[in-house]
Amino acid sequence: MPDSLTALSHVTVSPDYHTLCERVADRIVELVLSKPDAVLGLATGATPKGVYQALIRRHQEQRLDFSRVTCFNLDEYYPMSPDSPHSYHSFMRENLFSSLEVRQWSVPGGEPRGPEQIERDCLAYEAAIREAGGIDLQLLGIGRTGHIGFNEPGSPRGSRTRLVTLDPVTRHDAAPDFGGMENVPTQAVTVGLATIFEARAIVLMASGKSKADIVRRALTGVVTEDVPASLLQNIDRVRYFLDSDAAERL
Ligand code: F6R
Repeated sequence: MPDSLTALSHVTVSPDYHTLCERVADRIVELVLSKPDAVLGLATGATPKGVYQALIRRHQEQRLDFSRVTCFNLDEYYPMSPDSPHSYHSFMRENLFSSLEVRQWSVPGGEPRGPEQIERDCLAYEAAIREAGGIDLQLLGIGRTGHIGFNEPGSPRGSRTRLVTLDPVTRHDAAPDFGGMENVPTQAVTVGLATIFEARAIVLMASGKSKADIVRRALTGVVTEDVPASLLQNIDRVRYFLDSDAAERL
């Protein structure tokens, strides 16, 4: 079966954002119930916010226990202090971890430092993921460039955690949060494609009409490093959760 047909058979379309987030939360809860010490790979951005709200609600209302779960985030802007309101560290604290107790959570370091130290820290992040037993479920959003994590077009499929340069489209999309594109960092530290692809389950979620074109290219287009999310077509363990707006060009 051609890869794009496999990808399409792994799509769940929800009528709206709320339902999309509940379905993704269901998938995460299912994992945590069957494996209370699961390792989650998490994303930031607008898309997963509703999933995090759903997980907090289920923790509070259904006493779902996450206290043995370990989390690794995908990326952080560089340079970026973890205390900055723009950091992904702050995002995760505000949107999830201030309300949900987990065993441990980590975000790649964005503090300014020399290239050798960055390289050592990236290796240490990879080692920490391995030592935790690897990622059980990797949650992904998708950028309009086709990036997953901050693996922009041209990222090698064998890439590991590293410092990368952000695509101008990605910086443009982040501009409102930073009060202008000139304030958006030009670089980021991201978990690499090879690391993402090793996860035992991968959930890519997308919402809204602005994602419809890249969703079509990623799921039904040529498999190429120029559209990093298209490389997921080669992986059978990927499930795509879309709302009807993001799915409208499939
Ligand atoms: C963020 C990340 C990115 C985002 C993507 C979509 O940690 O890894 O790949 O998932 O840029 O962002 P939103 O959800 O804001 O459209």
